[in-house]
Amino acid sequence: MPSDLHYHDYLQLDKILNAQFPESDKKQLPAHDEMLFIIIHQAYELWFKQLHHEIDSIITIMARPSLNDNSPVLQMVVQRLNRCVTVLRVLVHQIDIMETMTPMDFLDFRDMLRPASGFQSWQFKKLEAKLGLKFEERHGKEYYTSQLRAEHVEQIKSAEESKSLLDLLNSWLERMPFFNEKENWIRTFSNPVSTGYNDTHPFWVEYRKRYSESLDEAEKDNLIAFDRIFLNDQTSGKLEHRLLSSAASRAALFIMLYRGYPILQLPFQLLNSLLEIDEQLSSWRYRHMNMVHRMIGTRIGTGGSSGKDYLKAAADKHYIYREIAQLNSFLIERRKLPALPTDVEEKLGFVHQ
Ligand code: HEM
Repeated sequence: MPSDLHYHDYLQLDKILNAQFPESDKKQLPAHDEMLFIIIHQAYELWFKQLHHEIDSIITIMARPSLNDNSPVLQMVVQRLNRCVTVLRVLVHQIDIMETMTPMDFLDFRDMLRPASGFQSWQFKKLEAKLGLKFEERHGKEYYTSQLRAEHVEQIKSAEESKSLLDLLNSWLERMPFFNEKENWIRTFSNPVSTGYNDTHPFWVEYRKRYSESLDEAEKDNLIAFDRIFLNDQTSGKLEHRLLSSAASRAALFIMLYRGYPILQLPFQLLNSLLEIDEQLSSWRYRHMNMVHRMIGTRIGTGGSSGKDYLKAAADKHYIYREIAQLNSFLIERRKLPALPTDVEEKLGFVHQ
C-alpha cells in the first residue's frame, strides 16, 4: 500500500521554517544579519539534540552490568562516539559562518537580545553533565543556576545526579578482567622489586620500576604522582578529588600500553574518542571565545557575564576527560614494556603456535 508521506510533512518544515522571528523585525528596525544569528543558533540546537540522542544510547549500553570488550555493542559505542566527534567538528566549523557577520552588523540588533544569551542553552549544559562535568567542577556555579529557567535547572541537575558517561567508563574500566588470576603474573615477574606496597599486583610493581627508570632527573616527582594515581598512595598527603579510581586508571593505562593486542583495540578507540570529544569541545569553546572577543571586545555579554573572561575560565576548567589525557605522562617506550604471561596474551587475542 503506497504511503502518501510527503517530504515537507515528514520533516515538519511548516514548524521549522516558520520559527524565525527577528526582534529587529518586531521593532521595525531592520537588521539583515539577525536571520543568520537565529538560524545558526537553531542549527546548533538541532545538532545538540542529535548529540543527546547518541550519548543517551551510549549511556544505556555502558550501564549494562557487563560489556564484552570485543563485542558488536562495544563497536556500536565506539561508532556512535565517533559520530559525536564528527558532529562536534561541524559545530566548530559553523563558527566560520557566524564570523561572516561583522561587529557593526551585530550591533544593529545586539541590544535587542538582552538578557537572552547562549549561556541559557540548557541542551549544551545538559550535554556537559551527561558526558561527566560535575556541578562542583563548573566555573561560575551561581551564575550558572541563576540564568536558567527552573525547569531547565531541574533537567540539568537530574543529568548531574544520574550516572554520567564518565562514571560508567570508570565502572567499566574497574571490571577489566586480565589481572584477576595473580599466579600467572607472579610466575612471569618472579622477582618483583619491593615498593612498600605489599598488595600491589606484580605487573604494576614491575611497570613502576621501568617507569621510574625512564624518568629524567627533573621528572622524579612523576613517581609520586604515579603512586598516588595508580596505587592510591596517600603518604604524601590526601589525594585530590579524582573522578577515575586507581583501579580504573590502571586499566586505562594498561589499554593504552597494550593497545596492539586485538582485544584492546576497541577499548583504546573508546578512550581515544572521549579525548577527541574533549578536544573538539575545547576547540569550540576557544573559537567561540575568540569570536566573542572580536564581536564585543571586553564588553559584558548579553547574559550579563564578564563575556570573554567568563568564557576563558570555563574553557580552561571544563575538560571532562582530563584524567584520561593525563595518563599519557605515564607511558614508557614500547620496546621497554614488560612481556605479558602467555595465558594473558592468549586472552588478549594473540594465540601462540
Ligand atoms: C555573535 C555571536 C556570539 C556572541 C557575541 C556570543 C557571546 C556569548 C557570551 C558573551 C557568552 C557568555 C555569557 C553571557 O554573558 O552572555 C556566551 C555564552 C555561550 N554561547 Fe555564545 N555568542 C555568540 C554565538 C553563539 C553561538 C552561534 C552559539 C551556538 C550555540 C553560542 C552558544 C553559547 C553557549 C553554549 C554559551 C555558554 C558557554 C559556557 O557556559 O561555557 N554562542 N556567548
